[in-house]
Amino acid sequence: MIIKSLTILDEHYQDLNNDGEDVIQGLTQTPKSLPPKYFYDDHGSELFEQICELPEYYPTRTETWILSQYADEIAQITGCCELVELGSGSSTKTRLLLDAYRKIADSCRYLPIDVSGGILKTSVFQLQEKYPDFSIHGLLGTYEQALSHLESNYLQSRMLFFLGSSMGNFTPQECDKFLNQIAHTLNAGDYFLLGIDLQKPTEILEAAYNDSQEVTAAFNLNMLSHLNWRFQGNFDLSLFTHQAIYNQADAQIEMYLHCQKSHLVSLDVLNLKVSFQAGESILTEISRKFDLVNLQKQLAAQRLKPLKVWTDPQKWFGLILCQA
Ligand code: AVJ
Repeated sequence: MIIKSLTILDEHYQDLNNDGEDVIQGLTQTPKSLPPKYFYDDHGSELFEQICELPEYYPTRTETWILSQYADEIAQITGCCELVELGSGSSTKTRLLLDAYRKIADSCRYLPIDVSGGILKTSVFQLQEKYPDFSIHGLLGTYEQALSHLESNYLQSRMLFFLGSSMGNFTPQECDKFLNQIAHTLNAGDYFLLGIDLQKPTEILEAAYNDSQEVTAAFNLNMLSHLNWRFQGNFDLSLFTHQAIYNQADAQIEMYLHCQKSHLVSLDVLNLKVSFQAGESILTEISRKFDLVNLQKQLAAQRLKPLKVWTDPQKWFGLILCQA
């Protein structure tokens, strides 16, 4: 059952090659940083689901509203195609799209891709129950693994979608590289649907990433627990505190873990010992806030032609449908 519904992408890849190489890199440079993909162990994915429901965290609500208004129109434009989602998580918002495609086609194929096995399995099973006529198959792996898998497994016309402004985690250079990979994974005529968070006042942004229930703080600190179990580490979470600030010059939220006391941390699997100074920080995430006009130019430059853009009345969040 599990085997039929889920493909583990390159399960040996991690052991044989450089699993954790990015952790070593990030912790041995100054200033220290860690890749945001390490947020999403099973507990981290649960915490992220809680973030999506927070009153201060407007992105999920706003994007859900846009999809509830325009999913039918999106399905009308693209027609039936293979639906592929990067970073699908619980696939909650995706149901709005699946409902729309169910209206125009008897059967569709949906491939959710995520790094977090627990949430992927659960959502694949739930969706199979709710959409018995769809063919739904999970891909467990990173974006890179998924994109190279997709390149060699081409069935029909395709819509690749990347919601929730997850692209905001990429630096401008990483973003270019990513869009280039997307363009190469798609055939001419295929679609790319992108959800992106837009620029807005600092107070609103900082509140969304420093919520009063401190779920975001728990989410940020959980990255250290994840590294502890995955790489036999001894991070003491009580020695770090969460902070998110909006860097207006670069139009990005920056999430930090600030170290409260000088100490030494080891990660045995990586053969790594790292010293931390009191007051030193680890950058765990950037979450860029986009300008719709500039982003459309950037997409067009990568041969992903913007066909239509939808936003909410406050213009807090945008959805862009592109064609390769
Ligand atoms: C999943 C990357 C889109 O940047 O808003 C939420 C992650 N971090 N709260 C975001 C996140 C803190 C989220 N993305």
